[in-house]
Amino acid sequence: MNAPNDFPDGDRRPPRRVLVSGASSGIGAAIALAFAERGDRVAVHYFSGAGRAERVRDALPGTGHVAVGGDLADPAAIPALVGTTVDGLGGIDVLVNNAAVLTGAQPIDAMPYAEWAKVWTEVLAVNLLGAANLTHQVAARMLAQGTGGRIINVGSRGAFRGEPGHPAYGASKAGLHSLGQSLAVALAPHGIAVASVAPGFVETDRVADRLSGEQGAAIRAQSPFGRVADPAEIAAAVVYLASPEALWASGAVLDLNGASHLR
Ligand SMILES: NC(=O)c1ccc[n+]([C@@H]2O[C@H](COP(=O)([O-])OP(=O)(O)OC[C@H]3O[C@@H](n4cnc5c(N)ncnc54)[C@H](OP(=O)(O)O)[C@@H]3O)[C@@H](O)[C@H]2O)c1
Repeated sequence: MNAPNDFPDGDRRPPRRVLVSGASSGIGAAIALAFAERGDRVAVHYFSGAGRAERVRDALPGTGHVAVGGDLADPAAIPALVGTTVDGLGGIDVLVNNAAVLTGAQPIDAMPYAEWAKVWTEVLAVNLLGAANLTHQVAARMLAQGTGGRIINVGSRGAFRGEPGHPAYGASKAGLHSLGQSLAVALAPHGIAVASVAPGFVETDRVADRLSGEQGAAIRAQSPFGRVADPAEIAAAVVYLASPEALWASGAVLDLNGASHLR
């Protein structure tokens, strides 16, 4: 590991090497910032947004951050993505599986079969298979290092509440939560903890149209707080779950939905 960092509050913790998938925007960018503010070094992963990812990287406090590209829907691209990350950071201690796609509405009662099948393939390829493949390659590096690690999945409230308009997305997130629970057991003997967060609505560009449109007030009213989440609120929970103190949260799926859906 690297030399300890000095923190203003006197806390001295070694910086960790953190890969955040899909960190070129939204929640992923906020997660990258939260780790960097803690003194960690971050690989800002992107797919199509190389310029955006470089701007996120350049705005992070601290040094040693990198931007790393790669299509998570392509299993053949993932070993190189992880290799570039490990070369850039000098190893890897934390993976955040944040990248995902949310397609347009997918109504089962109005969608032609060919389109339906295409959307399911596209969504699962990134949100579930991409995360599973990325996790395999990162876990292999953590096992080789022998240093333990943390894997945090960004799931969704939709996995529990249902996503009638976006069933492939909801199923992909339920699968991601389940992947995390299986791997929490499989990786515990290696000192690797795995947990997930399940956010409700979060104010990002992805949902900006819905929040500013006719549905906006109803979406905010889903929570008794009368608002949606700020990306920094999701990032804070991810940083906690990746902390040494959170080992015992391994296997958890943490609701972050402002009491909008209780289970
Ligand atoms: N916003 C919400 O209300 C909300 C609620 C619950 C859960 N979530 C979850 O939170 C996470 C982040 O959401 P967000 O709102 O911040 O979304 P976002 O701004 O659309 O970010 C999605 C990220 O995924 C990356 N990505 C897309 N396709 C990819 C591919 N084929 N390969 C690799 N990366 C790919 C994008 O990269 P490029 O832009 O570089 O292509 C982008 O960085 C997602 O897992 C989402 O499901 C969001």
